[in-house]
Amino acid sequence: PGGTIAVMSNEASKTNEPPLIAAYRGRPTPHTPVWFMRQAGRSLPEYRRIREGVPMLESCRRPELVCEITLQPVRRHGVDAAILFSDIVVPLAAAGVGVEIVAGTGPVVAEPIRTEADLARLRGQADLSFISESVRLVTAELGDVPLVGFAGAPFTLASYLIEGGPSRTHAATKALMYGQPETWHALCAWLAELTREFLQTQVSAGAAAVQLFDSWAGTLSAADYRRYVAPHSAYVLAGLADAGVPRIHFGVDTAELLPAMAEAGADVVGVDWRTPLDVAARRIGGALPVQGNLDPCVLFAPWPVIETEVRRVLTEGAAAPGHVFNLGHGVLPETDPSVLTRVVELVHEVSTQ
Ligand code: CP3
Repeated sequence: PGGTIAVMSNEASKTNEPPLIAAYRGRPTPHTPVWFMRQAGRSLPEYRRIREGVPMLESCRRPELVCEITLQPVRRHGVDAAILFSDIVVPLAAAGVGVEIVAGTGPVVAEPIRTEADLARLRGQADLSFISESVRLVTAELGDVPLVGFAGAPFTLASYLIEGGPSRTHAATKALMYGQPETWHALCAWLAELTREFLQTQVSAGAAAVQLFDSWAGTLSAADYRRYVAPHSAYVLAGLADAGVPRIHFGVDTAELLPAMAEAGADVVGVDWRTPLDVAARRIGGALPVQGNLDPCVLFAPWPVIETEVRRVLTEGAAAPGHVFNLGHGVLPETDPSVLTRVVELVHEVSTQ
């Protein structure tokens, strides 16, 4: 088997396929590729400096700034992918929804959507030209490093629109979902259309993979997820089927949802730290690559603990047909960036042996 792997990785390098894309396709790679959700952001002093005085959503609309911030973690850490600097609420703002990102809180929606009448305020057209421009600038600078585009999934976006901000219980979201199912499905259909367009824009401009973040879907039972959410996420993912780029589907606390999230049309499933990757790989049928899943809080532990955990994640990830190393959720702002760099080196070193 060792010989086969060596021959096949030559095969992969012949086609100049980046390790990230090979792993997402379940093909052999010279090393396990690694990137971090939220690798661009407050853990980096160079990010905090360049963002000074520029509101979050404003910074997402300036292509030169987006380009620089997207590249910062690639230069510093030597990760195998860039992720576009943007936010899940960017397409909402582009479609005219009154939304701000409040530091330390997250997205805040001025006039939440709670009734059928509120739906009438949602417009059809969004100007996403600044996204195409940003992606073109970034991909021109990145060279061989692939760019991951992303969007929020309809459920997670709906939760911000309905709650008006972050929520622990998602009570208002569920009240609308159970109590006004027609309004719920109409809202999610609008979000799915917008999300499709947001992702297609990124792919047309050069993104090499896309990740759909359904960060808060884990608040639902599998039955409710399948009934109220999966069809809308499936619509988004189906819109990318012909684009030829791997589609990653990720959420937090999704142990019970993994099969349904795979069935929604994912090529790769992102897993949080609660489910070991070998268990996750089995739950989704054993045929799909996985991404994850180091607990972001492990990065605050002494190095020997981090090293043990990284090795464990790599071992468990090897049970899937492909593995892209990542955290189980985003980098926390307090994280020491030099630890992230060391993790990248360790992942490459261990997985090359
Ligand atoms: O490096 C990257 O991962 C790319 C950038 C990225 C951001 N947001 C930038 C950002 C990505 C992929 C996102 C996605 C996002 N945004 C999600 C899905 C991923 C996840 O974490 O589950 C969600 C739920 C949001 C909504 C959101 N936006 C939250 C919860 C917050 C944090 C609020 C805070 O201040 O703690 C934001 C703001 C945000 N998005 C920041 C960044 C870098 C911080 C704002 C700042 O630096 O001032």
